[in-house]
Amino acid sequence: MRHDHLIDTKQLDRADIENLLDRAAEIDANPGEYANRHAGKLLGLMFYEPSTRTKMSFETAIKRLGGDIVDMGSVESSSVKKGESLADTTRVVEGYSDALVLRHPSQGAAKMVGDFVDVPLLNAGDGAGHHPTQTLLDLYTIRENAGLDDITIGIMGDLKYGRTVHSLAHALTNFDVRQHFISPRSLQLPRSVRYDLHESGANVREHTDIEDVLPNLDVLYVTRIQRERFPDENEYREVAGEYRINMETLEGASDELTIMHPLPRVDEIAPEVDDTEYATYFEQAHNGVPVRMAILDSMLEEQ
Ligand code: NCD
Repeated sequence: MRHDHLIDTKQLDRADIENLLDRAAEIDANPGEYANRHAGKLLGLMFYEPSTRTKMSFETAIKRLGGDIVDMGSVESSSVKKGESLADTTRVVEGYSDALVLRHPSQGAAKMVGDFVDVPLLNAGDGAGHHPTQTLLDLYTIRENAGLDDITIGIMGDLKYGRTVHSLAHALTNFDVRQHFISPRSLQLPRSVRYDLHESGANVREHTDIEDVLPNLDVLYVTRIQRERFPDENEYREVAGEYRINMETLEGASDELTIMHPLPRVDEIAPEVDDTEYATYFEQAHNGVPVRMAILDSMLEEQ
């Protein structure tokens, strides 16, 4: 990779993405060859927000490369509780680690920390901002199931606060992908993201009804309404449960449709969909390990 830190997907061009996905595929095919590649390396985990997949797959990835983690633990049990600033905690944890993974509720937190840390920093989600490592595993999954060129993708749900959406939409502008965004009006893409997409010449359309586009889709990327980011709980209640994919909704879908979701899901995809050929979200979550191994391998080898 050209950069020390991975903060957002705007910093990645098509070659960067393809190199990482190729490396992930190579790791997936020959995991044993990578088993001791980064023996002794320590990955610092700083998660200021809940996480299951991202945190555990980073931990699995570094251990499968022969390294280990040093984990700040939960905010409740760390010195953050005593009022320590993000800057101070980061300066300390970077001294224990060869690379850092940060998840934080404030948009822009990773960029701020990236300006002063000396070890590579991976943004594992900054508020409603970005989540670039999720995007790389999303792209890997799309490539495996539908290919990354000449495809039509529908991205549905909370497009305003969903950081996985922002990172994915930017990354897809590197490929020949038609992007359809489906959401309630109040949760449409933030103006800044829409502006950047238009600037990069992306093929983008916005809708409020999934039925308008479903038959044309190769991939449907469903997201959770980000309840924790709503300033007003009433606003959340107005849109909660509005978009739900079930067997009835899918009647108009192509047999080849790939349904993805970064997880966790609340009620956006009915469990009855899980046993169909459409459901790709658990495979997507598993892809987090080889893809994060590829990202760590690429960052640590440059040190
Ligand atoms: C996502 C996140 O944290 O942004 N989760 C994940 O990393 N797979 C999506 C979400 O929380 O809805």
